[in-house]
Amino acid sequence: MTCVQVAIVSGGGQGLGEGVARMLDENGAAKVVIFDMDESKGQEVASSLKNGLFFKVDVSNEDSVKAGFQGVTEACGRVDMMVNSAGIVGPNGVKAENVETKAFDKVYEGETIEFHCNVQFKE
Ligand SMILES: NC(=O)c1ccc[n+]([C@@H]2O[C@H](COP(=O)([O-])OP(=O)(O)OC[C@H]3O[C@@H](n4cnc5c(N)ncnc54)[C@H](O)[C@@H]3O)[C@@H](O)[C@H]2O)c1
Repeated sequence: MTCVQVAIVSGGGQGLGEGVARMLDENGAAKVVIFDMDESKGQEVASSLKNGLFFKVDVSNEDSVKAGFQGVTEACGRVDMMVNSAGIVGPNGVKAENVETKAFDKVYEGETIEFHCNVQFKE
């Protein structure tokens, strides 16, 4: 049994984030909020949870993250936990010297901007 009241899980539409969201929901979180840019998958997971809620959020976009946090604050009044699981794997099976800088940047963009925004907007 968890004491978490309101948890946000970015990337909760599938993969590791979905797993964490389901674990929190099964263990008694009052609200598990999915942030994902994939509306269809994120909404589907949120709807299947006992206490799920979904916001379409692109974690690499500051305005989008801010709007997501505002939505959670309005709906739930608090945030107790933030799980940052949104991300992309990027180029796979490619030699490091053949990875374009743009593709490399894209992998880091989501995670670094997300972390910065979460710190900024969490209150
Ligand atoms: N699966 C692993 O073994 C593993 C190991 C080490 C690191 N990781 C990293 O952990 C993260 C999650 O891995 P996964 O296997 O669950 O990936 P996944 O592709 O299965 O799921 C990622 C989720 O994040 C969402 N997402 C991607 N970019 C987003 C954005 N900008 N804004 C909002 N949502 C976004 C996707 O829509 C998807 O629902 C990735 O960054 C991955 O590189 C995974």
